[in-house]
Amino acid sequence: MNPIFPHFLHGGDYNPDQWLDRPDILEEDVRMMRKAHVNAVSIGIFSWSRLEPEEGVFDFGWLDEVIRRLTDNGIQIVLATPSGARPAWMAQKYPEVLRCGPDFQRMHYGDRHNHCPTSPIYREKVRAIDSALAKRYAKHPGVILWHIGNEFGGECRCPLCTKAFRDWLRNKYGTLDALNKRWWTDFWSHRITAWDQIEPPSPKGDQCNPAVKVDWRRFVSSQVRSFIEMERDAVKAYNADLPVTTNLMNRFWDYDYFDLAKAIDVVSWDSYPAWHGEDDLQTAAEFAMNHDLMRSLKRKPFLLIESTPSLVNWKDTNKLKRPGMHMLSSMQAIAHGSQSVMMFQWRKGRGGAEAFHGAVVSHDGRDDTRVFRDVEAVGKALQHMTPVLSEDTQAKACLLFDWENRWAIDFAEMGRRYAMHYFDTCVRYYRPLWEKGVSVDLRDMSEDTDLSGYSFVIAPMLFMQRNGIAEKLRSYVEQGGTLLVTYLSGLVNEDDLTFLGDAPHGLTDVLGLRAEELDTLYPGETNTLLLDNGKRVPLSRYCELPEDVAAQAVGTYGEDFYAGRPCLTVHAYGKGRAWYLAAEPADEEAMRTVMARVTDEIALPHALPDALPQGVIATARGATVFVQNYTKEERSVCLTDQWRDLITGEEKQGSAVLPPYGVWVLQKEA
Ligand code: GAL
Repeated sequence: MNPIFPHFLHGGDYNPDQWLDRPDILEEDVRMMRKAHVNAVSIGIFSWSRLEPEEGVFDFGWLDEVIRRLTDNGIQIVLATPSGARPAWMAQKYPEVLRCGPDFQRMHYGDRHNHCPTSPIYREKVRAIDSALAKRYAKHPGVILWHIGNEFGGECRCPLCTKAFRDWLRNKYGTLDALNKRWWTDFWSHRITAWDQIEPPSPKGDQCNPAVKVDWRRFVSSQVRSFIEMERDAVKAYNADLPVTTNLMNRFWDYDYFDLAKAIDVVSWDSYPAWHGEDDLQTAAEFAMNHDLMRSLKRKPFLLIESTPSLVNWKDTNKLKRPGMHMLSSMQAIAHGSQSVMMFQWRKGRGGAEAFHGAVVSHDGRDDTRVFRDVEAVGKALQHMTPVLSEDTQAKACLLFDWENRWAIDFAEMGRRYAMHYFDTCVRYYRPLWEKGVSVDLRDMSEDTDLSGYSFVIAPMLFMQRNGIAEKLRSYVEQGGTLLVTYLSGLVNEDDLTFLGDAPHGLTDVLGLRAEELDTLYPGETNTLLLDNGKRVPLSRYCELPEDVAAQAVGTYGEDFYAGRPCLTVHAYGKGRAWYLAAEPADEEAMRTVMARVTDEIALPHALPDALPQGVIATARGATVFVQNYTKEERSVCLTDQWRDLITGEEKQGSAVLPPYGVWVLQKEA
């Protein structure tokens, strides 16, 4: 694995443009950054009105000076394009740069992240400022990465976007006949007879057709991808070798990140877990999966480009990170493949919406605070960890996670309607593997997904089967893989039209059964799975009823009119085995029990050979093992092998105490 940079990046978002009248503070920033072992900062993210105060009039003087001061002090630059927020003059002169909302009404000027992705004028203005920035800085030796815009999100329903949607559909379907057929428009008399009858789905208009809604998502996603590509090409024109990223977000629903990632060189993302809530282990599991997803988007190391050193200010309750948590959460990112620990924000501003958001430097301007010391400690630790940079996660387990399936499930008028929770369901299948120290990749149903290297593939709720996936799963099992398919699978095709014939489509002979009826339980209702090893597992939400079962029943339903019918099955197919879980385990313990039964017979590599106490997780990145304590108590860990902790240099063998929220970064003694 080739590292993106020769060392871990440590730093974060820096907004010197808010302090141009305080040169003393700008000088002090650099001194403090050096003290905190900061080696990279992201600048210019929201600087457009300083860079182009009037249309066509650019002012780079202040930025020249900021870049000089930082790079003279060994701090490298992640340089942003400012497209995430625009100057007021632009919105006033060219209202089309502003978005139209779900009611098709134009927004007024304000906030950020709310431009129209189609507007030719906005694209032209962005291209011009990006080109000017690139012309000036793309070959600067201290500039190491482009940061395109900021957290792209949302959608626009203006006339330009509406027209672009129609063009996109025309390109996809060719004829209205084809569109009508594939959109099933004879339902409720929705037959379209002219392209300009089509509007973006919205609460004011069409809401009833899931196929239209999925197509709209695909269109919006591709429109934003093309916007990012436009920016990428503008800056690359001046130095094709300078890599490009854009900061992604967790749980993000709006766009298909597997597709969007193709527009950039490096995946980076903003991670803001709500630590110290009801269940830190659940939070840690979710964010472990988020990190794995980011690594999986390009199957390359990624950057943690934003995180908070202490707290955020935009959640309902903004809680401090407890002592240890900043190191632990930073190391969690590295454990899953990050090449950086970057934070939002270096220094708190005095006004605006984020004046009370956590920062390395607070309003007191001190470098002797708890937060500052925590940041300093992470910076120092990273300096000892350079050997980890070229280490790569070797996952033998894979979870199929697919954006188009996610949209289709969320729009599906069935089951727990509009509350199917695909993302959370995926986390629930991921967690037992993560708890056992098993590394997991996430892959989608794209053509380029190759499953052949995995020993275990889980496909939770494969509701929409994209073209080719059934064949791929079949040959995966045939060649010796172990597959787990669940309830709610193989029901609709890529057009969101139901398959005709037995479900799960194309997999019934692989699974050795067909799924006939789906029972959805009321909230609070349960059934039971009776396993062949005597365990009883509570079930909730979905119970599917398999028929014609040729597979071996490993567990049966305990209650209701389907008591005694198979609920967990396994079927030998080719050289492999295909499992089918007809119902949803009700809680984490239930999920652990089922996943243990399914994975017991697969040789999946674990990060450590040792059994770990509750709340302690081991994650391997190549030969490095991160042992993480997500509890607020000390944990005694027993290590068979002899290890050395890269952060402290201490040797670890036998019984050792991991402090509350403690972490060890272990490598074997040579
Ligand atoms: C991110 C955003 C930053 C800042 C931060 C606060 O989502 O990219 O600009 O707003 O949140 O947590």
